[in-house]
Amino acid sequence: MSTGPVDPTTTPAWAQLGAHQAATTPDLAGWFAADPQRAEQLSFTAADLFVDLSKNLVTPETVSLLLELAEQTGVLARRDAMFAGEHINVTEDRAVLHTALRRPAGASPALVVDGQDVDADVQAELGKVFAFADAVRSGEWEGVTGKRITHVVNIGIGGSDLGPVMAYEALKPYAQAGLECRFVSNIDPTDVAETTKDLDPETTLFIVASKTFGTLETLTNARLSRAWLWAGLSAAGVLADDDAARKDAVAKHFVAVSTALDKVAAFGIDPANAFGFWDWVGGRYSVDSAIGTSLAVAIGPEHFRAFLAGFHAVDEHFRTTAPEQNVPLLMGLLNVWNVNFLGAHTHAVLPYSQYLHRFAAYLQQLTMESNGKSVRYDGEPVTTDTGEVFWGEPGTNGQHAFYQLIHQGTRVIPADFIAFATPTHALVDGDADVHALFMANFFAQTKALAFGKSAQEVRAEGTAEDVVPARVFSGNRPTTSILAPSLTPSVLGQLIALYEHTTFVEGAVWGIDSFDQWGVELGKKLALEIAPALTGDTAALEAQDPSTGALIRYYLANRAN
Ligand code: F6P
Repeated sequence: MSTGPVDPTTTPAWAQLGAHQAATTPDLAGWFAADPQRAEQLSFTAADLFVDLSKNLVTPETVSLLLELAEQTGVLARRDAMFAGEHINVTEDRAVLHTALRRPAGASPALVVDGQDVDADVQAELGKVFAFADAVRSGEWEGVTGKRITHVVNIGIGGSDLGPVMAYEALKPYAQAGLECRFVSNIDPTDVAETTKDLDPETTLFIVASKTFGTLETLTNARLSRAWLWAGLSAAGVLADDDAARKDAVAKHFVAVSTALDKVAAFGIDPANAFGFWDWVGGRYSVDSAIGTSLAVAIGPEHFRAFLAGFHAVDEHFRTTAPEQNVPLLMGLLNVWNVNFLGAHTHAVLPYSQYLHRFAAYLQQLTMESNGKSVRYDGEPVTTDTGEVFWGEPGTNGQHAFYQLIHQGTRVIPADFIAFATPTHALVDGDADVHALFMANFFAQTKALAFGKSAQEVRAEGTAEDVVPARVFSGNRPTTSILAPSLTPSVLGQLIALYEHTTFVEGAVWGIDSFDQWGVELGKKLALEIAPALTGDTAALEAQDPSTGALIRYYLANRAN
């Protein structure tokens, strides 16, 4: 059984880490020179991922103290409690079992939690998703006028959007030709309007993805899309003007994914066309559940199974690998070191892969909704800083935008660099191999950040003395390099699981519940209260604070249509 949180700041390891930090001047160049084994000793593998931690501001002593901190704060006991299905999401009294979604069929012994045969349920639901995916992909699933589906629009937000869209973009080379997925999330009506404007209702299928099926944005967008479908079919003269015909159209053009199948039925979607999952899957951990149905349609069951197998390989690594070699454990502890001992406020994630252009956005929900907490899971205030801000863009775009600050700014910005040895498109520019040029940038950046450029080196280039300081690079800026052979479905699953567990480790050290998200509720409630003020309810307008009231009046005065 897991116990209550241990205040990390009261542990001997925390005090030792503080003293160690105070006594250590970061010197990556010196550390590499003094220890020829450093790169090798601080590089690890997890499934297909090669992870080099050696350019972080740690010595072997730092790592061993961090591992002691993990021991003293019970991180691994909490990990085991998670895998066993204990209710470690205490504020919602739920198990946290996204790892069960990727257990292979026939895993033994079966996982039974709270009386539920989790494995059987997961495989049964996956079977339904795959049968649906196959039907759409083969053309067996037809629109209401008998036409083949060419476009799938996923309507969802947060975890019901970010995972599917990120993974779809990442795995585009695996998507079936002639079948395009699009994603609507924002309640800004522009999103639905722009996404549907060139689509044919007769060949478009909507997937309404919402864990709760109560999310304002998603239900509004689903209703807008349903109205668009009916209007489009009517305009084409293929929809009779009666409820039965409209219902039939919805049955052929709308499916749903949710844990609340009763609400799906109330919306008018046939429960036979609904795929379920369970309250022990957090929204931001759900891309590998039926929430990934759009992805399964795009890449097909075989690739989706490989995606799940990738997650599982890293789950097993996290669950069974010795702490000294356990990559998510080490990465999570490094983040704690960076945040709590080196003062990092943010963490950049920089994929050198255009296919991963939504990866940072996806990670923002995973990491910040999980660890943006200031009370522990026993309700007591945290005793130290928690969740850092995650952000990023694909390289090399970021190099020409914000890397200046990472290289020469006043703040420590730990950065993860992610790249793949084999490109999907091995293009050449004359004699130049473009992927090699791309990768040269990847290697150059972490090298520059680690080792910098001294004033002496700058002077040796003949630089005028007055601009020497501006051209000096301090170095000693921490980075992690993550390499994999290529961006396959399995490798993408591995990467996601790596970050899921890294996030878990940070939360476990800090003693917080990384699986609730109460911080998003107040704004949702206030939006519902404010909405009437925008449509003529003067009492609602008068009830606002002076700033909000003035902003609403500006909006009312300036809205043109
Ligand atoms: O508001 C935050 C949140 O609850 C996320 O945690 C979740 O992923 C998102 O909203 C969407 O929720 P749902 O899938 O229930 O529509």
